[in-house]
Formats: sequence, C-alpha cells, structure tokens
Amino acid sequence: MLNLGILISGRGSNMEYILKSIKQKKIPINPVIVISNKSDAKGLEIAQKLGVKTEIIESNDFKGNKFEYDKKIIRVLEKYGVTPSNGLVCLAGFMRIISPEFVKKYKNRIINIHPALLPSFPGLHAQKQAIDYGSKYSGCTVHFVDSEVDTGPIILQAIVKIKKEDTEKTLSKRILKKEHQIYPEVIRLFAEKKIEVLGRKTIIS
Ligand code: GRF
Repeated sequence: MLNLGILISGRGSNMEYILKSIKQKKIPINPVIVISNKSDAKGLEIAQKLGVKTEIIESNDFKGNKFEYDKKIIRVLEKYGVTPSNGLVCLAGFMRIISPEFVKKYKNRIINIHPALLPSFPGLHAQKQAIDYGSKYSGCTVHFVDSEVDTGPIILQAIVKIKKEDTEKTLSKRILKKEHQIYPEVIRLFAEKKIEVLGRKTIIS
C-alpha cells in the first residue's frame, strides 16, 4: 500500500475528510504523517485524534531559500516512508509554494486542492475573485502540483453555482462541501492506480 503524507497550515478540514475516508476503509492508503508549517494549525489536533502522527516544521522564521525549507519536509516524509516511489503527498490548505526541486523529486505524486475552477482564479482568495469577476459558476479543482502556482494537470473538478447574494464566506462554505467530496475521491483513484498523466492531461480509468 502507498504511504500518504498530508501538508497543512491551518484548519485542516480537507485533511479530516481524507483521514476519515481512509478510516472507513474507502481508500486503500496508509496515512503515515501530517506535517504543518504552523505550530498553531488546528488540523494538528484533529490528525492526532484520528491517530495519525504529526510534525511541525515551522516556516515563520525560516531564512533560507524555498528548497532549503522543502528539504526539511522531504526528510520527514522519507522518515515515514512517503518516498517518490511509494508515497503520495497531499497539500490540504498548505500555504506555501513548493520548490521546483521538490516537485521534480516527487513527480506526479504531489496533489493540491484549489477552491475555483482552474485555470480561472488561481492564487489567494479564489472564491472572492470569482464573485468579483461576475462568474455565474465556480467550484473546486484537484490537480497535480507542478512548478508554477495552481497550473498542474487537472484531475477532478466540481461545480458550484454562484448566487447573486453570495459573499466570499457563503460561497467558500458551499465550495468547501464539494472539496470534501472530491479530494478523498481523487486519493482513492490515485491509490487504486486509476490516474494516468499524459502531458497536461490526466486520464481516469
Ligand atoms: C481550502 O479551501 C482549499 O481549497 C484551499 O485552502 C483551504 C483549506 O481548508 N487550498 P482546510 O484547511 O482544508 O479546511
């Protein structure tokens, strides 16, 4: 079975849904470690309650370059068996940009969730971006991570209708519900080796 490492920075609700799906035996993967770059991330306690080991690699006062920090993450991932040949790394609200070296080492083995229909509205405040733009629909995207921000091959998307009275908060809430459905689903597909990457595209069997 593959080993799963989850990287978080805060609330950890996507992580929670993923870990609960694994506990319910819906996903054949070993959740071996949750790593946070923030010591006060709420998700740390949730992971521990669900019986998953946690580590904090504080990024606040880190002075080196991105890869110097990522090397610390890689060291911990490898310690728990999340390797480029036997691991999957899921970013779940991890508020750091991953270095190209990290991406290259774990090629097509790092996955992220973004609260918009990529390639629209990458980056921060994606839900507000969609409202301000006047979009009628938004949603969420699970994608492989490449060396740019929110640009990697798309795996699964879910659509959410934007209501005229929506605020960033109300839309974020409805999108989050969809995130909680599609992220565990993608991890299941990955664990069952049902995702193939062909250039920019993914094929799901
Ligand atoms: C989610 O909206 C996710 O799409 C974005 O960051 C948020 C994380 O929320 N990347 P949580 O920590 O999983 O609750």
